[in-house]
Amino acid sequence: MKPVKVGICGLGTVGGGTFNVLKRNAEEIARRAGRGIEVAQIATRHPNSKCDTGSTPITADIFDIVNNPEIDIVVELIGGYTVAKELVLKAIENGKHVITANKALIAVHGNEIFAKAREKGVIVAFEASVAGGIPVIKAIREGLAGNRINWLAGIINGTGNFILTEMREKGRTFEDVLKEAQELGYAEADPTFDVEGIDAAHKLTILASIAFGIPLQFDKAYTEGIARLTTADVNYAEALGYRIKHLGVARRTEAGIELRVHPTLIPADRLIANVNGVMNAVMVNGDAVGSTLYYGAGAGMEPTASAVVADVVDVTRALTTDPNNRVPHLAFQPDSLSDHPILPITACESAYYLRIQAKDHPGVLAQVATILSERGINIESIMQKEAEVQDGLVPVILVTHRVVEQRIDDAIAALERLDDVVDKVVRIRVEQLN
Ligand code: HSE
Repeated sequence: MKPVKVGICGLGTVGGGTFNVLKRNAEEIARRAGRGIEVAQIATRHPNSKCDTGSTPITADIFDIVNNPEIDIVVELIGGYTVAKELVLKAIENGKHVITANKALIAVHGNEIFAKAREKGVIVAFEASVAGGIPVIKAIREGLAGNRINWLAGIINGTGNFILTEMREKGRTFEDVLKEAQELGYAEADPTFDVEGIDAAHKLTILASIAFGIPLQFDKAYTEGIARLTTADVNYAEALGYRIKHLGVARRTEAGIELRVHPTLIPADRLIANVNGVMNAVMVNGDAVGSTLYYGAGAGMEPTASAVVADVVDVTRALTTDPNNRVPHLAFQPDSLSDHPILPITACESAYYLRIQAKDHPGVLAQVATILSERGINIESIMQKEAEVQDGLVPVILVTHRVVEQRIDDAIAALERLDDVVDKVVRIRVEQLN
């Protein structure tokens, strides 16, 4: 059988890794796919010193790839939303299957792209868009197909996890670690996407769609970044038996679906609390299977290429199948997607860590407890750091039971109105993940 012809658009970190893995493991990959896979053309404006492209034809124009009649599968690795969207839509229009690692593109324009792909009977595969080398999309979409998924929670941004880990373990500065992540090719072109939670929200949007069978709704995801976390809170969290991680959480409730990315305290003895560096991990809880955990490298040249190449093999095997019998893009049949709403953050439920900077007076704790109890907020633990009294101020740290966020917002507003409370109250959400 003739080899399948692949065109790679973009020869950066992931494009270079994809070329190298396809070449190095060509024989093993062909044994799996049932036929050879050949890179017929690459589009790039800059050579990649880590790739020996040999005699593979190279063009500077990415549209040469989608217009090349020889090419069966277009691999989009240029990133961004605008040109990448045009490129993918053109490839689909030309009847080509598409593989992408572009989470922003899928999270923001995926509904439109999948509709077009269905019209044309082609596959758009996107395993590499979430959690780098971890095959979590395949696991949820196929491996957990018998379950009603209750919730999922993940560390899905390698750069952010790398920064938090280095800051906690080595006391390095935020800026210093971010620079290293950029040099290692982990960070997004705009690193605020990593540290502000936008990249994680793109990935969470995709995971929530395939877990709950809902359309992609990135605009409704709540995001809060890690840039404002302080060493003090990292240390207090440790003293309380928790670890702070930047977590994406998607949970199905009767009222709607929670879709939120924010720093989160997790019990330090959970496996996921011990996922460090650039590693990612996603927990998925299904009604039949219970909790499952998927772990691996969330970014980087060959880990991400591993997911891209797995999609190349999947698409190659499916080339001759009836389009109606393929795994649906979003796991559920397109006419069976649900309109269960995404909840605003004020309607989401969580436990909370609060740090209140209070005057060291008798009765302050009583006032704090009254404000919380008046709003039905149950305190799980409380810690007052007498040893840290400075200028007559003492940090009061407490963890609440689970409560709807609106009530915590009201309580924080009331606490901040007290004469004995100075500064803003620090609030970090807490998830037990059990
Ligand atoms: N910037 C992303 C991260 C790359 O750090 O996780 C992988 O999607």
